[in-house]
Amino acid sequence: MDDIILDVASASCRFDVSAPTLSRLFSKQPRRILRAVENVSFTVRRGTTFSIVGESGCGKSTLARMVVGLQRPTQGMLNFRDIRRADGSFGPPRVQMIFQDPYASLNPRWRVGDIIAEPIRELKLRPDAASTKDRVGDLLEIVGLSRSDASRYPHAFSGGQRQRISIARALATEADFLVCDEPTSALDVSVQAQILNLMVKLQKELGLTYLFISHNLSVVRHMSDDLAIMYLGRFVEAGPAEEVFSRPRHPYTRLLLDTIPDVERPNRERRPMSGEVPSPIDPPPGCSFNPRCSRAADRCRAERPELRMLGGVSVSCHFA
Ligand SMILES: Nc1ncnc2c1ncn2[C@@H]1O[C@H](COP(=O)(O)OP(=O)(O)O)[C@@H](O)[C@H]1O
Ligand SMILES: [Mg+2]
Repeated sequence: MDDIILDVASASCRFDVSAPTLSRLFSKQPRRILRAVENVSFTVRRGTTFSIVGESGCGKSTLARMVVGLQRPTQGMLNFRDIRRADGSFGPPRVQMIFQDPYASLNPRWRVGDIIAEPIRELKLRPDAASTKDRVGDLLEIVGLSRSDASRYPHAFSGGQRQRISIARALATEADFLVCDEPTSALDVSVQAQILNLMVKLQKELGLTYLFISHNLSVVRHMSDDLAIMYLGRFVEAGPAEEVFSRPRHPYTRLLLDTIPDVERPNRERRPMSGEVPSPIDPPPGCSFNPRCSRAADRCRAERPELRMLGGVSVSCHFA
């Protein structure tokens, strides 16, 4: 399936982080604008996974929040296209978000069965209590839990199991599109792999579309169709995941790849991730990556490289 389900065009999100007006006027401080997301464009194809990777603070969650409508873009557009579902209905995709911390996103006072049943009742997706209960049981089984888990409370489950419950609740809405904001970052590595495998399986079975966000390239390696590398609010490299992994063109992408352990070559020399990410309030002139880049030249400190297409991948580097 190659139909576009989400179209993001030159989306930006800036936050005014100035001091309160009076104190700013007294101390003659200028306004301070934080550029969380700058001029980001991409499309997501139905039934595929588009991953966004970058270090903490680069704007991933802000972008995710814009996609699900929790944050307005200050510029640009984000549009979902209507889709035809298996049941014949036609309309905008149902979008749900899965968060990093399933501890915080599940109500501790509710039984798991009620947590999952809530959207079904709210959206009147089942006609009566018996069929709702049935659906909750099915959903628990779909995510690898058991029907009897419905009567337990979230605290009785491990982190990985809680994330399964969050996924079941998202699926309870008959979601078509899941925005997953670091869904496995709080989990142990072995549990992470289980949740990722579950998500891949669900995608195949249910035709789901994912916008998958992570600060860790190795997490998205085996599940992404498309991949964007984000740095200080901007995409610096984006394209088919295989191409980006096999031929990284931006120095920042290479740096991220270098920090991934390689099972085939465990003794390979790995460069540690060096340097701080500059502030998005006061980004460096020219290429925003230049203070950390080993190849930075005068041009990189003066002129910001535009994204340009190279072999099916868009890259913003003067030397790519
Ligand atoms: N509501 C807000 N007000 C002001 N600044 C914000 C707000 N939300 C996020 N930011 C800032 O925007 C930048 C990007 O944040 P975020 O999108 O959370 O990044 P990430 O998810 O990649 O860690 C950060 O510098 C953060 O402090
Ligand atoms: Mg975040």
